[in-house]
Amino acid sequence: MKALVAYLSSTGNTKKIAEAICDEIRCYKDIMKVDEVQDIGSYDISFLGFPVHGEGPDKKTKEFLAKHCTGGRKVALFITHAAPEEEPELPETLAKFKQAAAGADLQGVFDCQGELAKGVKFIMKIAPNKKLRSQAKMDNSKGQPDSARVEKARAFARETMSRMDSSKPS
Ligand SMILES: Cc1cc2nc3c(=O)[nH]c(=O)nc-3n(C[C@H](O)[C@H](O)[C@H](O)COP(=O)(O)O)c2cc1C
Repeated sequence: MKALVAYLSSTGNTKKIAEAICDEIRCYKDIMKVDEVQDIGSYDISFLGFPVHGEGPDKKTKEFLAKHCTGGRKVALFITHAAPEEEPELPETLAKFKQAAAGADLQGVFDCQGELAKGVKFIMKIAPNKKLRSQAKMDNSKGQPDSARVEKARAFARETMSRMDSSKPS
């Protein structure tokens, strides 16, 4: 069995989760930035990770998912976002990632909070958009993903891999 972990990460949050997931994989594995991915077709399972940008996947993420999530390839998504996990709008946000990966055989989606970059928070605080200003004010993402979230990501990787193992023809 061969596994791929590929991620997009500007400030290291999604990378941290990618590394934890990779660390839990016990078969042959590669980890790389999405920019380095040529073809996920040679992997039995691909863990693909992205940050939320603008309440969903950004253009690059959508294009990546549309290009690679085809032909029922087995894919698991991991997503980081500044919003708390219990934020009511989050399911809708995550659904946009699933939609972009609709051509894959989706094995699971993990998401967790990741610290909002200081520069982005500053811009949000002075934005004309009231919702952005309020989100910046409410932001409680500092220090995320913390060790508890990283552990949840590890558990997600173990569970996904164990399902892969049990679905293998004997
Ligand atoms: C341009 C931009 C837009 C973002 N939009 C959202 C958003 O709509 N909702 C949210 O919860 N977080 C948003 N975030 C926060 C990131 O998703 C979050 O901090 C993430 O963990 C960053 O991951 P990274 O360090 O791997 O890049 C945004 C960040 C940036 C830079």
